[in-house]
Amino acid sequence: MAASYLKKNFQGEILSEFLSIIEEEVMRLNDITTNFLGFSKPAPLDIKEWAINDIVKSTVELIRQEATDRNIEVVLLMDENIFPVPCDYSRLRQALLNLFINAMDASNEGDAITVTTELVNEDVTISVRDTGTGIDQEEVENIFKPFYTTKTRGSGLGLAIVDRIMKEHEGSISVDSAVGTGTTFTLEIPMRNHAKV
Ligand SMILES: Nc1ncnc2c1ncn2[C@@H]1O[C@H](COP(=O)(O)OP(=O)(O)OP(=O)(O)O)[C@@H](O)[C@H]1O
Ligand SMILES: [Mg+2]
Repeated sequence: MAASYLKKNFQGEILSEFLSIIEEEVMRLNDITTNFLGFSKPAPLDIKEWAINDIVKSTVELIRQEATDRNIEVVLLMDENIFPVPCDYSRLRQALLNLFINAMDASNEGDAITVTTELVNEDVTISVRDTGTGIDQEEVENIFKPFYTTKTRGSGLGLAIVDRIMKEHEGSISVDSAVGTGTTFTLEIPMRNHAKV
């Protein structure tokens, strides 16, 4: 707020440029801290039965405008036969959002992000496929580690959080990627989660 105040009330190109940097960096640190606090001190799980397709659709809406602006197509392929699944609504949204943001980060104009839901035996799978940069084979083993990032503005906590959310659901996350072709992340959530319902 002090940086914003100075920017508004004092003139000068360099002053304004440096204050903008301070503002941006404060916002970035704020994001990292918020992510970090969420990572280290999770709220208790709140498992209820939810329509997975609705969660997917409403989360996609959070990135749709930016996708449209950047000419990235978002395709939804929803299996309509999925019964309500026991899960934590806001955790699952967080997991999906982290995957969507990564997919957006990796994509360029003309790329597509495809989100597929499917009922496979006793599990529901949600996959997020992008046609973006892809991930190096050697890099793949690192991406779920906390603080691993290749982005100048990344905290490297996104996928570590998704991984933990999946473990909380007795589910899993897997990845399939090829440099230059794109990446698919697949979440698997068991339909029966007796332990926690
Ligand atoms: N869809 C993807 N395409 C290409 N690379 C990816 C994709 N998703 C993740 N990665 C790679 O995995 C790394 C770790 O991802 P993660 O979401 O954990 O952190 P981040 O995106 O770098 O930072 P944060 O999510 O905290 O903002 C990324 O920096 C990137 O190199
Ligand atoms: Mg991320």
